[in-house]
Amino acid sequence: MRRRIAAGNWKMHGLAAGLSEIRAVMDAHPDPQCGILVCPPATLLAAAAKLAAGSPVMIGAQDCHHERSGAHTGCVSAEMIADAGGAAVILGHSERRSDHGETGELVAAKALAARAAGLLGVVCVGESEAERDAGETLAVVARQIDSSLPDGCTGESAVVAYEPVWAIGTGRSPTPAQIGEVHTSIREGLARRFGADGESIPILYGGSVKAQNAAEIFAVPGVDGALVGGASLEQGLFSPIVSALEAAPRG
Ligand code: PGA
Repeated sequence: MRRRIAAGNWKMHGLAAGLSEIRAVMDAHPDPQCGILVCPPATLLAAAAKLAAGSPVMIGAQDCHHERSGAHTGCVSAEMIADAGGAAVILGHSERRSDHGETGELVAAKALAARAAGLLGVVCVGESEAERDAGETLAVVARQIDSSLPDGCTGESAVVAYEPVWAIGTGRSPTPAQIGEVHTSIREGLARRFGADGESIPILYGGSVKAQNAAEIFAVPGVDGALVGGASLEQGLFSPIVSALEAAPRG
């Protein structure tokens, strides 16, 4: 059975004091019925992983370099993330694609590096508002899936996060029907590309997920969880989303 994951992406937020939020998530969900992943900034990764060691809460990073080591000032490799206790890494988030010009090919190389280091790679895809308005959503997302996922992906090494760019941090989100349409299309693409292994790859939805809309989104067939930005920064905001996923029917 495909795993379900409530994942938090702290982005460039969080000082050492913020570790108390991870402690609170651990305390609120000692025996969760879904995976929980928190991705703090790199500065907090090792401390967060130490804090969460032995608990069901996984700690992850928000990006990695595609090489194991080398002369790349300011970069962090997948091996370093694993060494710091990380279990996962977000890859190809739209903010990385737009702020740092990351291409699908680069994201795929990063995903390979993550797999080699034993990390779960959470690969993000999603259309811009202009692409949606032009009726190109499914084609854009299919192209991103093809280019950003390396060969040989399985649910052990890869997760896909569908995040419409226009829904990130805006308070706007697609209708359940729109989310369902894209998730179905991604699921078909994964099956074509990876065969039976594609079935095991979870597909998360991301973009303005919050307590108020989580249950509705998780009720959409084909949604295996969420990648949450703003509402993952505080346990009081994140926990209801985790609970909604635990309570959601499997579809
Ligand atoms: P948001 O961010 O929940 O704040 O919209 C989601 C994301 O960028 O992963």
